Amino acid sequence: MKMNEVLYNAAAIADRVQELAKELDVAFDGSSIVAVVALKGAMPFAMDLIRSMKTPIAVELIRAKSYLGRESTGEVEFSLLPEGDLTGKTVLVIEDILDTGRTARAIYGALLIQNPQRVHVVTLLDKPARREVEFQPDWVGFSIENVFVVGYGLDYDEAYRQLPDIRVLEL
Ligand code: XMP
Ligand code: MG
Repeated sequence: MKMNEVLYNAAAIADRVQELAKELDVAFDGSSIVAVVALKGAMPFAMDLIRSMKTPIAVELIRAKSYLGRESTGEVEFSLLPEGDLTGKTVLVIEDILDTGRTARAIYGALLIQNPQRVHVVTLLDKPARREVEFQPDWVGFSIENVFVVGYGLDYDEAYRQLPDIRVLEL
């Protein structure tokens, strides 16, 4: 395994997060929202993004595990769901990365049954070429090629989440 080039350094990430924060503030126009942070990968992104927004935000957490076993069912299970009542709320799911799209679609579905007014999705990274189920996030930080990336919350076997940059990992 070899750590390869820096894809986005900390400064580039910070710039993009600021841009997204501004776009989101414009979109929500001062009305309050509930941010649902997808653990664990989206933690650094979510905290930087939320801190830069002026929109009044309540924070909830969700934890999805996708099982791409031998049968490749792509089943998604939840080990943590929002505790607060989402009825009638405007929800913003904050994701680290969209790959096949299964996790994001499952999160979207799990939140929709709680009768929110709307569910929006922002993801730091998107790998559109890898999509297997149809899912279109509302905001994307960076659209990337089909490479495995780590850092800024993203892990390989729980390692590298603490890196300030996003790097390509050659497996
Ligand atoms: P799906 O396929 O459900 O996958 O869209 C989303 C989840 O897959 C993991 N994932 C990655 N994790 N670097 C990572 O550290 C990557 O390049 C990568 N691609 C997918 C991640 O857990 C994400 O939530
Ligand atoms: Mg992971």
